[in-house]
Amino acid sequence: GNNITTNQDGHLTIGGVDTLQIAKEFGTPTIVYDVSKIKEQINAFKTGFETQGVKYHVSYASKAFSSLAMYKLISEMNIGSDVVSGGELYAALKGGLNPKEIEFHGNNKSRQELEMAIDNGVGYIIIDNFYEIELLGEILDEKQANVDVLLRLAPGIHAETHDYISTGQEKSKFGFDIKSGQADMALKQVLDNNRFNLIGIHAHIGSQIFATDGFVQEANKLMDVLNEWQQKYDFSAKVVNLGGGFGIRYTDDDNPLAIQEFIKIIVDALKSKSKEYGYDLPEIWVEPGRSIVGEAGTTLYTIGSRKDVKGVGSFVAVDGGMGDNIRPALYQAKYDAYLAKDPTAKPQQNASIVGKYCESGDILIKDYDLPMTKPGDVLAMPSTGAYGYVMASNYNRNPKPAVVFVEDGKARLVVKRETYDDMLKNEIL
Ligand code: LLP
Repeated sequence: GNNITTNQDGHLTIGGVDTLQIAKEFGTPTIVYDVSKIKEQINAFKTGFETQGVKYHVSYASKAFSSLAMYKLISEMNIGSDVVSGGELYAALKGGLNPKEIEFHGNNKSRQELEMAIDNGVGYIIIDNFYEIELLGEILDEKQANVDVLLRLAPGIHAETHDYISTGQEKSKFGFDIKSGQADMALKQVLDNNRFNLIGIHAHIGSQIFATDGFVQEANKLMDVLNEWQQKYDFSAKVVNLGGGFGIRYTDDDNPLAIQEFIKIIVDALKSKSKEYGYDLPEIWVEPGRSIVGEAGTTLYTIGSRKDVKGVGSFVAVDGGMGDNIRPALYQAKYDAYLAKDPTAKPQQNASIVGKYCESGDILIKDYDLPMTKPGDVLAMPSTGAYGYVMASNYNRNPKPAVVFVEDGKARLVVKRETYDDMLKNEIL
């Protein structure tokens, strides 16, 4: 199961800190990150590539979880980060990330966002569409500037995952289609404009992927395109960027490959194709989000009311729900939960763990076997570190939770719990 650690009182600990203590000090719901786990994952990517002896670049997909402290951590770990909006870019810069280490993604970057990227010296812009080629070209002319770019391709690969998070299929809103000749046309336009320095191509096939064949197909497809472009247009890429998508463990049903395994398979595929084509192996770039922060995060809730209906079922309600974790409602995502005071306690009841939001779909875990619970018990839900806080909402005017980083036996607040006043700060009476 998930690696549960406890102290001498039998309480769940995270990074050596008692979770009951964290709940007491910072309140609930609170998302707690084990910083050493984040570092471990980043290092797994680094050593994975270093073992293969290839040139690489890891860029954290900050949409999975961003905060100033997170960007600072990313910069301390000496990797890059990708951003997908002016807001993420702003936060990344405020968090101290070196702009040269930032990749800017997005299928509809605005003029203002692109100008902001150029003005701040963002390292790489991943061009998604023809409109962007034109708009960015105009901006670069106005500013007499140049920028490194990658072309985002839609590789036409259907990775096995939830439809909403699958992005590589042909009918996708992201990137230039290869088969129809769009990608070739984009290449020509970008090569024709010396404001752009085209360093390579990018694709992303989806998220929470366990099977390796999607990545192998992607690697093969991208090398096919590069080989063709070398023959036809004498273009040689410095970089091939495979995106993110590496699956993580939410419950015991999930059995993801180790990061090093994923990397070995990708590198092997790229190596054998480049050998076949006599193409110099480009630098291999990846953009993991979920796999860096997902398992490092645990949400702490406090249990309140319950409802039992004979022959129908039971509901145990917590003080958060779909406002801090929309994933069960949106993707039928599965989670586990433990009692912080005794995480190894045997199940004694079956109940749905529900939130406090005015919506029947606000179910965090449906029909779950759990120990007896009483109001005031702290419930810990692991693997909530990715796409939880960042997709949080103020539905029902519930404030967003606090975020705490734990490391070396110490817990520190990195995002304050929102207040009612925070939620009113843009309102005009
Ligand atoms: N690169 C690109 C271009 C992406 O679109 C994404 C994720 C990533 C990298 C990072 O993928 P990851 O390593 O995190 O799987 N909200 C959904 C996930 C949406 C993913 C969007 N793109 C969820 O909660 O499952």
